[in-house]
Amino acid sequence: MSKTKIIDHKSIAELFADDFLIGAAVSPLTIQKQRDLLTHHFNSITAENEMKFERVHPEENEYTFEKADQIVEFAKNNNLGVRGHTLIWHNQTTDWIFQNQDGSEISRQQLLERMQTHIKTVMQRYKGQIYAWDVVNEAISDKENEFLRPSKWLEIVGDDFIAEAFRLAHAVEPNAALFYNDYNEVIPEKRDKIYHLVQSLLNDGVPIHGIGLQGHWNIQTPEIDWIRAAIEKYASLGLELHITELDLSVFTHDDKRTDLKEPTEEMLALQAKRYKDIFSLFKEYRNYITSVTFWGGADDYTWLDNFPVRGRKNWPFLFDQYHQPKRSYWELADLCMQQGRGGN
Ligand code: GLA
Repeated sequence: MSKTKIIDHKSIAELFADDFLIGAAVSPLTIQKQRDLLTHHFNSITAENEMKFERVHPEENEYTFEKADQIVEFAKNNNLGVRGHTLIWHNQTTDWIFQNQDGSEISRQQLLERMQTHIKTVMQRYKGQIYAWDVVNEAISDKENEFLRPSKWLEIVGDDFIAEAFRLAHAVEPNAALFYNDYNEVIPEKRDKIYHLVQSLLNDGVPIHGIGLQGHWNIQTPEIDWIRAAIEKYASLGLELHITELDLSVFTHDDKRTDLKEPTEEMLALQAKRYKDIFSLFKEYRNYITSVTFWGGADDYTWLDNFPVRGRKNWPFLFDQYHQPKRSYWELADLCMQQGRGGN
């Protein structure tokens, strides 16, 4: 099949312009390689890695903002919104923040001070340029009978590290929308824990404005009813919802094949149907969902290549390796056209 030009296709952001922002996670490499795709189809971006603690703050007195700056600059030049990801997380966080020079653990007070310095420096650098921040990422446990995930933050500061992070972030930028972000967010047990956490933050008057549903899903699970129930439950807290890291793996949980050179027809068909069902649902809840970000732009690069199965490529997005629309894209275009948004 001959290749079509990216601009020949209706922008996905435009198709959903009445509903929510459409974002993509990017890196310094993809803002070059996927430049035309990103600027045509999306109106929001997130740094996949470049704003994470280890990338911007590798040592106590060293900040490395060059790559994050490039991404924010790209957004500015192309009129794209930016979601900030992420301020406080147990992962991709350098150990220096938890330790004295001799390697011993610092006190609660010291860690809160370091947390404040970090949040302040990062948020101030991009003040006014980021429409929402993931303040805390993945603090809830996946284990039965365990509420918060064990981490250095929890161990040293205690349960209120989450509330403290939100208060500090709000003090730096009172206008920024502040989010709690997590995965497995529609699995009933974890959903209820996330709900409970956010509800108790709200009861304590903590400045939190939204919940981020990561949306690392696949062509079969989780079932739509679970996604709906989670959206309903979170929305009942009266907060904004963002889908923050959407991708639909073509492999179901038990499919560990490594021999495929390209996705099968069946996979592409299922993926297209899933995207359609999922976005129909998102449209139903457009009064709550204000931004939907894919965890990448097109199938030439995804964190799911080699993860969790080594030596396996994945094809989770709306656009293929050559940035051509897949069946999934056309299903979404159809969906929007049926509901009155034109496309070609
Ligand atoms: C989590 C994090 C993201 C990213 C993905 C894998 O979902 O929130 O920042 O690391 O894992 O790419």
